[in-house]
Amino acid sequence: MQSRKKIIEIQHLKKIYPSKNAPILALSDVSFDVYEEEFVTIVGQSGCGKTTILKIIAGLLPKTEGTVLLGGQPVTGPRASSGIVFQQPVLFKWRSVLDNVLLPIEILRRNRGDYLQAALDLLELTALTEFKDRYPRELSGGMQQRVSICRALIHDPPVLLMDEPFGALDAMTRSEMNVELLRIWSERRKTSILITHSITEAVFLADRVIVMTPRPGMIADIVEIDLPRPRLAETRVSPRFNELVQVIGRKIGLKYI
Ligand SMILES: Nc1ncnc2c1ncn2[C@@H]1O[C@H](COP(=O)(O)OP(=O)(O)O)[C@@H](O)[C@H]1O
Ligand SMILES: [Mg+2]
Repeated sequence: MQSRKKIIEIQHLKKIYPSKNAPILALSDVSFDVYEEEFVTIVGQSGCGKTTILKIIAGLLPKTEGTVLLGGQPVTGPRASSGIVFQQPVLFKWRSVLDNVLLPIEILRRNRGDYLQAALDLLELTALTEFKDRYPRELSGGMQQRVSICRALIHDPPVLLMDEPFGALDAMTRSEMNVELLRIWSERRKTSILITHSITEAVFLADRVIVMTPRPGMIADIVEIDLPRPRLAETRVSPRFNELVQVIGRKIGLKYI
């Protein structure tokens, strides 16, 4: 792992949200790297600063102090080098599935025709081909989130950022989406960061789990996940899986796991 190329480099990241009364220290001193093609998850209790980290990496939010490099370049604003998936699918209801997937191409002012095949390939990859002309309201929550993943990948960014993408789904759909996401990741080989407050999800997906402390956000530990790939439904019932879940739960400071 250490010989691989660093794609994301974060050093001494600090974030203070200004506020009328007392400013809010959301991140106090966060440092970590993510390597090429690695899948990293960030887990921590609500309010510990997970979304703040992701928005800063995506260039959607300014940092207060520290260094954030993407592909060796400082992040100064939204860039085409990352794709982001939010907790809610945020699809445009008046656009078809295909047109939602192609939205970033319009925003980046690129030629739609150049990306049509890429969009169809992504819809194929996520088993949505037959829904390409449907509208978001006609899709289930899991399908809508798959459209969001296609949209995040359409311009072929090297980095995929996901903020609790399956948080709104029921447990069974969520488990299925985890397997699906790993399939997409293994085909597309994107460097990925996924945020979750589910320890089992964090362990199931990751090469490494970054464990955050409660607010103000700091890294409690980074845990290497030595479970074999491909990870399948059986992975979740293996003793090692449960051991890792317990270890991480204790690091977060949960009494009951
Ligand atoms: N725009 C904002 N203004 C002020 N405080 C904020 C803002 N966004 C988040 N916070 C605060 O920063 C902390 C971290 O928030 P967030 O990154 O959303 O945490 P998480 O995603 O882990 O739940 C929380 O205490 C939250 O209330
Ligand atoms: Mg959040």
